[in-house]
Amino acid sequence: MKTIEIRRVERSDLNGCVLLEERCYSPIEVAPRDFIAKRIEIYPDGFYVAEVNGEIVGMINTGATHKDDITDEELKYLIGHVRNGKNNVIFSLAVHPEHRGKGIARMLMDKIIEVAEGKEKQKILLLCKDNLVEFYTALGFEYVNPSNSDFGGFTWHQMEHKLPEPTWIDTSHHNSASLSI
Ligand SMILES: CC(C)(COP(=O)(O)OP(=O)(O)OC[C@H]1O[C@@H](n2cnc3c(N)ncnc32)[C@H](O)[C@@H]1OP(=O)(O)O)[C@@H](O)C(=O)NCCC(=O)NCCS
Repeated sequence: MKTIEIRRVERSDLNGCVLLEERCYSPIEVAPRDFIAKRIEIYPDGFYVAEVNGEIVGMINTGATHKDDITDEELKYLIGHVRNGKNNVIFSLAVHPEHRGKGIARMLMDKIIEVAEGKEKQKILLLCKDNLVEFYTALGFEYVNPSNSDFGGFTWHQMEHKLPEPTWIDTSHHNSASLSI
């Protein structure tokens, strides 16, 4: 039986991730090698891979931002990325065609959700085409609105996954203040 390992990306994964990106996206959508290299270099905490027998068969990569509207294309190259931004933005979620339908995309998404919760992010945001609205709904996302992006000449939709508020926030004292002297 083959084991699927989900782990944080490493620098040495660059070639495997580039090959996977090229295999999974059409030429107009594919993220160039330098984009992927930059995502690995600048924000490895938001980049996870799925490995089977030493081969990268899946990946998810993200950036962080304070923005709620993610139409801005430059963020894909991590221009405007702020590590402590309140939201995570998903750039690529890709699974090799021979390994699809085994729950790998769900495992990668669950990992990114877990990591984002640990970093006390508020939401995970993404843009997707018509045919994947249902897929992301199955992964727990809600529809937000049609995006203003017309990247590649396609219609895009913004979707979001709201994360729970950190449990340490105690709102019971927000309306009053007292000082003992
Ligand atoms: C979309 C993609 C990542 C799915 O990967 P996968 O590993 O086959 O997905 P999973 O097996 O984890 O499926 C997760 C759930 O989504 C459903 N699903 C999978 N592909 C779907 C699709 N195209 N449309 C609707 N639902 C889909 C599955 O049935 C499953 O639901 P379930 O758990 O309730 O049974 C993969 O097909 C891919 O890499 N596509 C090309 C790149 C792409 O378009 N990426 C997304 C845009 S950024």
